[in-house]
Amino acid sequence: MTTEMRPTADIIGRADVNDLEAILSVVNTDRDETLHAVRSEYDTNFTWDYAKGRRPKLDKLYEKAKIAQWNAQTDLPWETEVDQEKLVVANAVANGGFHEGIDVSGTALAKWSEQDWIDFGVQSQNWMLSQFMHGEQGALVCTAKIVESVPWIDAKYYAATQVMDEARHVEVFAKYLDDKLSGHYPINAHLRLLLDDIIADSRWDMTYLGMQIMVEGLALAAFGFLHQMTTEPLLKQLLRYVMSDEARHVAFGVLSLQEYYEQLSQAEIRERQEFAFEAAVRMRDRFMQQEVWAHMGVNPKEVVPVLMEVPERQVFQSMLFSKIVPNCKKLGLLDAADGWLRQRFTELGVIAFEDWADTGEEYADLQATGSGAVAS
Ligand SMILES: [Fe+2]
Ligand SMILES: [Fe+2]
Repeated sequence: MTTEMRPTADIIGRADVNDLEAILSVVNTDRDETLHAVRSEYDTNFTWDYAKGRRPKLDKLYEKAKIAQWNAQTDLPWETEVDQEKLVVANAVANGGFHEGIDVSGTALAKWSEQDWIDFGVQSQNWMLSQFMHGEQGALVCTAKIVESVPWIDAKYYAATQVMDEARHVEVFAKYLDDKLSGHYPINAHLRLLLDDIIADSRWDMTYLGMQIMVEGLALAAFGFLHQMTTEPLLKQLLRYVMSDEARHVAFGVLSLQEYYEQLSQAEIRERQEFAFEAAVRMRDRFMQQEVWAHMGVNPKEVVPVLMEVPERQVFQSMLFSKIVPNCKKLGLLDAADGWLRQRFTELGVIAFEDWADTGEEYADLQATGSGAVAS
């Protein structure tokens, strides 16, 4: 059997996944837009089969979600004072310094004072939390779309609880930005391209693959990383709450797609592999923080290539894929089409995560030990 996958350039708009010049040339030119419309044509599926529990694992998730709800306004210690500059310094001290191991000679950063690095750290926080907030809104609209389009009643029930979860996540990140930080950033262009692609696709399972597997898989890893690094107690607790929801969301994606993919043809699976690859690249591209450099008056094309060489940075970049790769493996996406996606993940330097626990397993373990819910 021949396997015809599209060339990389057709999928992500450039031939070399690591072409920094091309990555940094994609910028948000609509920074002042307040509404962004995406057209999507898809079937809204009614089902007349109301037999609850036909899919027992989804039913269990639904029952779990009902009792794991929390209130963004009253369950978090919002009275906590956050001094952003002090926090940047404290985080730097706790995690080994501002720019340890980065050779900035010959770049604009060589002249940076301690205060410049602190300002950069503050902007970095504003940027990071803003992108989380935008991603959460992506999850909110995608999951509302799943409620309409998925054909199974157990999945519609579960997805309805996720819509509520995501509304709460947008709410907490927006409140944290407004009350504790010092400015919002517009959505990163790479993230917006990805969200547009996911929401525009007419196939219901592509919403799951793009959102539950890829975006939320990455979010789960990124929140975990930040949760570990930050010394700020309110953010730490906020992230813990959000993560306990996200683990359930990713498990929902894995459980739903596992069943559906069993009935797809090889050609259809190939399309899912390409979609997963495109999403992986877009998500990696967005973490270059190009808008923060621009805000600081530094040309991102000058400094990003230097920073990409820093080992810690590379570890962070690849850690973001620690949930995505095992979940793709579990879904059979790594090895279909002669291992096409395995090859792509190898090029991205993230294949080593393939044997880490997938989120289906991980979620079951969390439930078994009783540490999976913060609200109970
Ligand atoms: Fe979320
Ligand atoms: Fe989520």
